[in-house]
Amino acid sequence: MNDKTLAIIKPDAVKRNLIGKIINIIEENDFVVNQVKSYHLKAAEAETFYEIHKEKAFFQSLIDYMTSGKIIVLLLHKNDAVSQFRKLIGNTNPELADSGTIRKLYALSQTQNSIHGSDSDINANVEIKFFFK
Ligand code: RTP
Ligand code: MG
Repeated sequence: MNDKTLAIIKPDAVKRNLIGKIINIIEENDFVVNQVKSYHLKAAEAETFYEIHKEKAFFQSLIDYMTSGKIIVLLLHKNDAVSQFRKLIGNTNPELADSGTIRKLYALSQTQNSIHGSDSDINANVEIKFFFK
């Protein structure tokens, strides 16, 4: 079991001044912020990061959204980090997310859903290398 995951505070949340509130929730749930950076994804980078979705109908709107402003990238440490963080962020669609999850609290829609978390240990390692070389 891995103890690391990659989180992204997405452009909708950065634009609404929610960085502090979201990091507060993350820390109160015993994740340790090991590295953090502000970044503005270029289209080619967003397309690589979300390559798995390139055939989906929402792909272009996802790329437009993820390149629409700055993101905050976080390398988080905790035991069982990947699945613990997926629980904390909640369902992709905020209407289906459990109460208390970050997406239930802050997401605007299924696309503009405020936060990303790696979905497997393998992908966490790939995503950490993508942002923290
Ligand atoms: P993420 O990868 O960002 O942590 O989100 P996730 O696993 O919960 O969801 P995923 O299926 O991997 O989708 C990636 C991101 O694409 C946008 N999306 N929009 N139908 C839609 O409008 C739609 N579906 C997905 C969201 O930003 C989602 O987080
Ligand atoms: Mg995903």
